[in-house]
Amino acid sequence: MRARIVATGSAVPRRILRNSDLERMVATSGEWIVGRTGIRERRVVDDGVASSDLGTDAARAALAASGWDPADLDLILVATCTPDMPLPSTACLIQRNLKASRAIAFDLAAACSGFLYGLSVADLYVRSGTCRRVLLVGTEVMSSVLDWTDRSTCILFGDGAGAALLDPSDDDRGILSTHLHSDGDLWDLVCVPGGGSRMPASDAMLAGRHQYVKMKGSETFKVAVKTLEATAREALEANKLAVADVDLFIPHQANVRIIQAVMERLGLPENRLFLNIDRYGNTSAASIPLALDEAVRSGRISPGSRILMVAFGSGLTWASAVVKW
Ligand code: ACO
Repeated sequence: MRARIVATGSAVPRRILRNSDLERMVATSGEWIVGRTGIRERRVVDDGVASSDLGTDAARAALAASGWDPADLDLILVATCTPDMPLPSTACLIQRNLKASRAIAFDLAAACSGFLYGLSVADLYVRSGTCRRVLLVGTEVMSSVLDWTDRSTCILFGDGAGAALLDPSDDDRGILSTHLHSDGDLWDLVCVPGGGSRMPASDAMLAGRHQYVKMKGSETFKVAVKTLEATAREALEANKLAVADVDLFIPHQANVRIIQAVMERLGLPENRLFLNIDRYGNTSAASIPLALDEAVRSGRISPGSRILMVAFGSGLTWASAVVKW
């Protein structure tokens, strides 16, 4: 029995950082940022706000939409590359906030592919009969790992969270497929080299600014287009679907030019695309669930809609999911 998504929720910080604000921080221009990425503004947290705070708000919104009691949750999965702290998991902190005392809780690290990796894990737990009620959260405070003096990365990312509740489907709707891929040979395309066991926190680590995101932008761009096209085709083939059968395409929101290149290669018309990168930038693991929640709440998704979601991220990881709503 496959899993289905019962409800979604999302949360973003109130504070908006516009391209015009970034013009005052680094040598950039709003025109360059919009033209190269499609991003106009992003949200950033106030001091002291962490991933579990945004994730809890997103989870509460999904719970309110479903009417579920947190005490009934069996499993809480959290996809994040910006956990509150190394220990404990952000999932356990969200469990505490929700008082979901019966749930197993753990984090999943697949960067921007994290939500689709989580969807696969959630689906397998439900299919195996191990868990019936699952909360999946993608939450990030990317602003905590950004070097605000590096114009090549600080303009790209934003903070936010999205959540989905899943349970067993009783008809042909639900998660039709997930496909996950990883290639550790490409680990250094996007990474945060410092702060872990390889290079623990130290004065030298901080002086070298190794606690921040490092990215090989143009190489990442090319790999992203190739892997997203391939994983989208793989998903369509596995479900015997044509491009015309896709009602809504929700790609990871990293760069509008990556998305456009993938859509051109697939022959997907623009009216099937859900895009919100202009308002949020790249929110990593929160990107797809945030877009999914906005699509649900704005009426872009209705019962029976076929949704194709694709993502790529640090690792390198890439993934797809096809959902019949
Ligand atoms: N403002 C103005 N100029 C800039 C800026 C900026 N913010 N950033 C870079 N430039 C300059 C560069 O210095 C370079 O100047 P030069 O030609 O004088 O050397 C020029 O612009 C072009 O730089 P490129 O890196 O070649 O620009 P590109 O067209 O590749 O765009 C970008 C850069 C937007 C980063 C693009 O490569 C990209 O989006 N890559 C993919 C990034 C991505 O998807 N990351 C996801 C990470 S996923 C995760 O897991 C977290």
